[in-house]
Amino acid sequence: MADYIKRIMESDTLPSHVKSLLSEEMYHGIEVSNLAVMIAEELGESKSFCEDLSVAGVLHDIGKMKINEYIFSEEDRLVIEHMKYVRQHSLYSYEILKEAGYGQNILEAVFYHHENYNGTGYPDCLKGESIPWMARILRTCDVFAALTSDRSYRKAFDLNSAVQIMIDEVADYDMSVFLSFQRILHNGKFKGISSLRNNISEFQMEQLALFEKVI
Ligand SMILES: [Fe+2]
Ligand SMILES: [Fe+2]
Repeated sequence: MADYIKRIMESDTLPSHVKSLLSEEMYHGIEVSNLAVMIAEELGESKSFCEDLSVAGVLHDIGKMKINEYIFSEEDRLVIEHMKYVRQHSLYSYEILKEAGYGQNILEAVFYHHENYNGTGYPDCLKGESIPWMARILRTCDVFAALTSDRSYRKAFDLNSAVQIMIDEVADYDMSVFLSFQRILHNGKFKGISSLRNNISEFQMEQLALFEKVI
C-alpha cells in the first residue's frame, strides 16, 4: 500500500528535497494515525471518533508543507527563526483542513496537537482537560512516532529508549492516554514500529491525497 508514496517519490515534477519531505511527512502521519486509532479503540471510543482521529493523525502536520518551501529558500536562516515558523504548522494544518471541509473535531485535534497536558505546549499553552480529547491522544502518538523515526540530525531511538524518554517527560501527556499506550505496547496487538508505517488503509490513502494538493 505504500505504492502511493512510492509513486510520488518517482515523480519527475517535484524537486528531490520536496519529495523526501513529502514521504517523511506522509509516513509520519500514517504512524500517528495508526497508533492513535489503536489507543482510541483500546479506550473504547466509537467508530466515528476513531475515523475522525484517523484523519487527524494522517493530516496533523500537513501545514509543514507550507513552511518547508520557506525554510529551504534561505538555508542560513537562524535556528530560532526556523523554530518560530515551524511552530506555525499546526495553524497551517488547521487552515488547510478547514478549507478542505473537514469537521470541527478534526480541526481542533490538528490545531492543538502540540499542546502538552501540563500547559507547556503551543499554540495556546492549554492545560489538562481544556485540551481537546483527540489532540491529547495525538500528542502521545506524535512524540512516539517522532522519536522512533530517523531525523536529519539523529537516528531513530529504539522502542524502549523512546518510551523511557517519554516517561521522563510524562507530565506532557494525558495519563489515561499514556497508560493505554503502555497497555498496547504490551498486550500483543502492537506488531512493532515498522507495522505502524506499513499498514496504510484505503481510507488513509484518500486522506494522503491532500498532501499533493498543498505542494
Ligand atoms: Fe506537529
Ligand atoms: Fe507530528
